Amino acid sequence: MKRKVDSQELSKKFDELHRKNQESLLGGGEKRIEQQHGRNKLTARERVHLLMDEGSFEELGKFVMHRCKDFGLDKEYYLGDGVVTGYGTVNGRLVYVFSQDFTVFGGSLSETHAEKIVKVMELAMQNGAPLIGLNDSGGARIQEGVVSLGGYADIFYRNVMASGVIPQISAIMGPCAGGAVYSPAMTDFIFMVENTSFMFVTGPNVVKTVTHENVTAEELGGASAHSMKSGVTHFASANEMECINGIKQLLSYVPQNCEDDAPRVDYTPSEEVREQLNSIIPDNPNQPYDMREVIDGIVDQGSFFEVHKNFAENIVVGFARIAGRSIGIVGNQPASLAGVLDIDASVKGARFVRFCDCFNIPLLVLEDVPGFLPGTDQEWNAIITNGAKLLYAFSEATVPRITVITRKAYGGAYDVMNSKHIGADMNYAWPTAEIAVMGAKGAAEIIFKKEIADAEDSEAKLNEKVDEYTRKFANPYRAAHRGYIDEVIYPDQTREKLIRAFQMLENKVAKLPKKKHGNIPL
Ligand code: HXC
Repeated sequence: MKRKVDSQELSKKFDELHRKNQESLLGGGEKRIEQQHGRNKLTARERVHLLMDEGSFEELGKFVMHRCKDFGLDKEYYLGDGVVTGYGTVNGRLVYVFSQDFTVFGGSLSETHAEKIVKVMELAMQNGAPLIGLNDSGGARIQEGVVSLGGYADIFYRNVMASGVIPQISAIMGPCAGGAVYSPAMTDFIFMVENTSFMFVTGPNVVKTVTHENVTAEELGGASAHSMKSGVTHFASANEMECINGIKQLLSYVPQNCEDDAPRVDYTPSEEVREQLNSIIPDNPNQPYDMREVIDGIVDQGSFFEVHKNFAENIVVGFARIAGRSIGIVGNQPASLAGVLDIDASVKGARFVRFCDCFNIPLLVLEDVPGFLPGTDQEWNAIITNGAKLLYAFSEATVPRITVITRKAYGGAYDVMNSKHIGADMNYAWPTAEIAVMGAKGAAEIIFKKEIADAEDSEAKLNEKVDEYTRKFANPYRAAHRGYIDEVIYPDQTREKLIRAFQMLENKVAKLPKKKHGNIPL
């Protein structure tokens, strides 16, 4: 006999289930919300709501629960299994998101938790939209053993498959360990929140046992450590709100996927001649200045969004807009270590260049570099291999590439910083540019060593030779005679020239030779 359906009863049951579900997704009701707020953190769901356009979030897998019954897991179940997943829009553009709930088994990753994340990753790849991971997790769920390790490996594999296909952005919103740091490490950008988020492979207790070091979680893996020392994180935010706003801002510069163009904002031509650029370079070539002033003088007002700000400050990288169009900027920074290229600066620059190249974002290089940093520390830590990463990244990039030499372009660094020889499309120099193998004094001391030593007045001879070398090379014209520099321009013309050149290069097509993939010196 067919059972009569009591629609009222069914509706009551559904409401009850829905209420429970909502509670567990919020972290299991009031108590769990308080727990999270008590840690000065938002809940997984609050974060998603802050990120997404109002009313746009569609949740997937609300009723998923873990399967493991070992070590007491048969006594506690939470609908959603500690992760909120789904899709929605940010400023009207589709994104996929997962947001881990630390109040459910420390946000740890079970088999089912992993399956939910994998599902949004697959959808993001198939539909060509960015993936945003809000991580707040102690890593693989210890009670589930190899099944949770397998779950992480499933995610890692998709991180790699998605790399260069869609932008992947990770925010670290709590104490994250194990897989919860390795998966973000394979994404394009990492955000951390000061004081409430940590990243480590092993926490302070394990460190103490193994190496006898006493270190706090903040010192070991806080936002400061990773934004300044290790460079693991690209952004350190003062709080979660700032972090989420940062993600939205970043998204505004990048395309949805590798076949898309970055969004453009409306632009009405106005003050294209920027006179302030004429007075930035000091008279004394050894005096520093801030390359950010040059950037601000060139790009659309207020559009510079700096990436990796606190790490390897001798190179500045970030996104900006020029006539409404997204560009990536790499600039040497004379205000820090005279803008020299060292290991960290090379790796920072290379990674940024590769991101821009993956996602069709044209590159602007602002060059003022005295060379590579000498010394045992650099040599023994492989400045050769690491410097080569930047050279490789620029050489391989097929997006429109323009360089402006503002002052020094010395030695190998001249070649590396997007020179014409390695495929740059347009190279400009300001009249203050010096393009040579090395600084005039060093050059004179080497090539006129004997003459200087034999001279009656060695110092006068040295000065004479320094002058001679300076006259020959401390200018952009030798390079311009050869066509290595397309045009010597006045600083205040730079913006206009760049707007035109980027427009001219808009439909650039460049292909790399057929290959499986190159072998960047890792
Ligand atoms: C299951 C976990 C858990 C985990 C935390 N919890 N991590 N449960 N699996 N991995 C639970 C705790 O038991 C606790 O439950 C609750 O989450 C909160 O944890 P606390 O330790 O009280 O919080 P806190 O002091 O803030 O410390 C957070 C932490 C720490 C630093 C993340 O919990 C921790 O070190 N966890 C283990 C990290 C780890 O080794 N994970 C495995 C990594 S291996 P109760 O019930 O007490 O509230 C991995 C594989 C990938 O991820 C391989 C990468 C290559």
